[in-house]
Amino acid sequence: MAIAIPPVVIGPRQKQRTKATKQLPQSLIESTKNVPKVQRFDPNTHLNFTDPEKIYSMKEIGREGGGISPVALTTPFSLFTQEAIEQIRAELFTPEILENYHVKSDFASNMLRGYGAKNAPFIHSVWNNPKVLGIVSKLAGIELVPIFEYDTGHTNVSIDDSNSVVKNGEEEDETAFAWHFDSVPFVCVTMLSDCTGMIGGETAVRLGEDNVMKVRGPTQGCAVLMQGRYIEHQALKARGGAERITMITSFRPKSAFVKDETILVGMRPISHLPELYMQYSEYRLEILEERIRNQLRKVRERKRALLEFDTKGMEEFLREQRGYIDTTIGEMVELD
Ligand SMILES: [Fe+2]
Repeated sequence: MAIAIPPVVIGPRQKQRTKATKQLPQSLIESTKNVPKVQRFDPNTHLNFTDPEKIYSMKEIGREGGGISPVALTTPFSLFTQEAIEQIRAELFTPEILENYHVKSDFASNMLRGYGAKNAPFIHSVWNNPKVLGIVSKLAGIELVPIFEYDTGHTNVSIDDSNSVVKNGEEEDETAFAWHFDSVPFVCVTMLSDCTGMIGGETAVRLGEDNVMKVRGPTQGCAVLMQGRYIEHQALKARGGAERITMITSFRPKSAFVKDETILVGMRPISHLPELYMQYSEYRLEILEERIRNQLRKVRERKRALLEFDTKGMEEFLREQRGYIDTTIGEMVELD
């Protein structure tokens, strides 16, 4: 059987995590200062889910059989109430996060990431809430969990201070990011900004050779879900809004028995490596632990049933785990 090689991922060129040099406008902090803090996500007041108009399949975009699920991406769907968005923004724009977790790369100049559950309990309770995970999993066609804490609630902030006025259809599409595949199986991109007057911001998806499909970007409180590891895509530039703040959370399959091709290429240059490698190792070891326990159970069951040892099956199992371990080792690149 031919082994499908996962798409190559290109990450930022910079070697290490770099603090952002441009300060975010004080008005962002001011606007969230008076929001009364809530510690936990409550689906009764914070969830506002409606199904997306359309879920594109891998088959529809010419990638049938690829990835871990038949789902490629969704159109924007409503996910959170205004109150939830206000809580998320209030947790993000605090002096602690802006001082210590505001980073930049040659891909994006303002990112907030790696701030952890301690600094943002509400955000972490959002992405670990069973109801939210249920929705994300249902739409993805496979049970998903956040990759790990470090990549939960990654936020891109883009501020337009040029006061440019844009007329519809006036300019060619500009790209915010080049064509790429993600480092993680699924991403959920949530819009935290009011998009009134904003033009562009779509996700472009490559269909086969030279065909491209554009999917509308989400508006405030809405999200799109995409199997970004296996779909070639790019974000188109948004114009005409004062700010564009999106939160991206990465997901992997919950089951230890589903292929997991999560890599760290896109994360290494924007993460504190010891923390990133610890979290990556921890979940990879958990997956291995479960796989090994399961294999051991199979071996013992055959033994008990007086069946001959399945040498081929064991070989195949070990080879697969060796590949998984090799990938894990290869991702933990030491800095000079
Ligand atoms: Fe992406």
